Amino acid sequence: MNPLSEIRARFSTTLSGMVDDSDNLLSMIRPAGDSEFGDYQANCAMPLGKQLGRSPREIASEICETVQLDGLCQKIEIAGPGFINLTIDDDWLKSGLTAALADDRLGVDRVSKPKTFVIDYSSPNVAKPMHVGHVRSTFIGDAISKVLRFVGHTAISDNHLGDWGTQFGMIIYGYKHFLDEAAYRQEPVAELGRLYKYVRKLMDYHAAVKRVPELEASLDELKRKQADLESTDSPGDKKAEKQLKKQLRQLKTKIEDQAEAVAGLKAKILEVDGDPDLVKDALAHPNINQNAQLETAALHEGDATNQGLWEEFLPLCRQDMQKIYDRLDIKFDYELGESFYHSELANVVSDLTDKGFTKESDGAICVFLDNHNAPMIIQKRDGAYLYSTTDLATIKYRMEKWNADACLYVVDHRQSEHFEKLFDVARLWGFDEVELAHVAFGTVMGPDGKPYKTRSGDTVGLSGLLDEAESRALEIATSQNPELTEERHREIANVIGIGGLKYADLSHNRGSDYEFNYEKMLALRGNTATYLQYSYARVQGILRRTEADVDSIRANPGEFLFENEVERQLGLKLIRFGEALDEVLVEYKPNVLCNYLFELSQLFAQFFDKCSVKDANSEDLKQSRLQLCDLTARTIRRGLELLGIGVLDKM
Ligand code: ARG
Repeated sequence: MNPLSEIRARFSTTLSGMVDDSDNLLSMIRPAGDSEFGDYQANCAMPLGKQLGRSPREIASEICETVQLDGLCQKIEIAGPGFINLTIDDDWLKSGLTAALADDRLGVDRVSKPKTFVIDYSSPNVAKPMHVGHVRSTFIGDAISKVLRFVGHTAISDNHLGDWGTQFGMIIYGYKHFLDEAAYRQEPVAELGRLYKYVRKLMDYHAAVKRVPELEASLDELKRKQADLESTDSPGDKKAEKQLKKQLRQLKTKIEDQAEAVAGLKAKILEVDGDPDLVKDALAHPNINQNAQLETAALHEGDATNQGLWEEFLPLCRQDMQKIYDRLDIKFDYELGESFYHSELANVVSDLTDKGFTKESDGAICVFLDNHNAPMIIQKRDGAYLYSTTDLATIKYRMEKWNADACLYVVDHRQSEHFEKLFDVARLWGFDEVELAHVAFGTVMGPDGKPYKTRSGDTVGLSGLLDEAESRALEIATSQNPELTEERHREIANVIGIGGLKYADLSHNRGSDYEFNYEKMLALRGNTATYLQYSYARVQGILRRTEADVDSIRANPGEFLFENEVERQLGLKLIRFGEALDEVLVEYKPNVLCNYLFELSQLFAQFFDKCSVKDANSEDLKQSRLQLCDLTARTIRRGLELLGIGVLDKM
């Protein structure tokens, strides 16, 4: 039982006697911002006062008179215009801690109404090397699945691999024209990756050659406009003057953006022009863009050669990806890629059409939606199906197979428009009971404030990133504990290197971009995995030094004693673990759990400074402190485990 849900439950009885819908009011009961005023604060009297046309202070005292907080709160106070400050009863807290101590779940209840969640995460496009963007989805999705399961929901994880898209046409084209057979025999996936990049370069080249003159012409036009505006006589009146300035500013940004785009395209052209092999191939393959697309179309239409190549490539690529998942200790319940739904796509289109939801536009089949200007296209005029069509088939499958209550899509924020439309079409189609949520996340940035890239300009490959994190962690492990064996150093490096990487990602609010930085990620201080792992190891050190037997501590608990204020604060924080997990699931934000664990570790550090275990002035106090230590370590370990991160007994 966590205090917040207990308080809300008790307020619920009182508030439902005063208004019809009290949910919103209950959500206004929150942990207190300042512990001086209490542990929790109920701010519901103000809106309620407004609603009922009475003074909030009067309402607050009415609530306080009726709400049953006996045994739960030891102090209830009204402050200011009608805030209700609540202090948790020490005996309640102590008995909660005693129960948590004996409980493998640390006193966290299972939800009363378990639901079935499908979590779509990681979902990289196979055959393109995985990059740093894919880790965000992977880490966030894995953490959310673990938290859901821990609190008692069913979470089905599904890696919706992009195994059917245009990249296969590109690789097939590359394979047919540019294959290095010896390299393919030796390291097939690396060679496929090379082919993908090679074809990409040639395609970009031709696209750029076509696009640059168009862009340059429009750039000239913009510059002409700019010159015109600049030479206009001053309009004299202030408003028009301002208008003109604004127009010029906007024009200037537009010109800069376009000039940058032209420069980018020219760089791509130059790259090819500067390499005799590339130039030769570019000239020999003027229609590579269309032809690569035709290879994809042939694959989708069941062409035997292309189908054969796809069947040859896919397992190779999957094995390669699996290596990364193994290193990250990520497992999926299902990996139903886009290709799995291939035979269902025609049915999706015909069913939506039969139900009258589609319209033809320019030969394409579309679903028009009220709140979007552009429709969702579900079949192109050449007959090809799209990403959206597959996603619709996927929703249908997930509903029919698992009867999901919720489907979460942990995908880059740049796809939000896709998901908005997808969810609208799905609801229109009849899937209107299921919660559909785009759990979006921001971009991983480099130190230059731009999306994280290597010096060569490629997005950073994932395996190189993991190598680097682990090798830096190995350096730290070796220098801190030179006496340990090399095997042990590697073990430590894996736990803190991979853990640090995951935590750096998870501890940022998923909506924001964040800067990738190895030093910060592995720092011993601050909100890092290393700091939490270190706190855990510190407790293990105390337990070792005092020769404490944790089994007997848990089996024969003594009373928790709050001799020092920080002991009570630590106890309260520990009992709030379940609250943090509930909060993670409100908006599917793992960083809430990170913050909780960080604050817990900070409190533990204060406790460690002020409250000696070994020199406690009585056996009872020593026992109580050992209990707090044990609960802290177990909460950190469990919390990190839910984030997919390990701990070490010694660091
Ligand atoms: N493969 C896609 C990409 O890499 C992400 C897929 C996300 N899941 C989905 N059901 N659309 O961009």
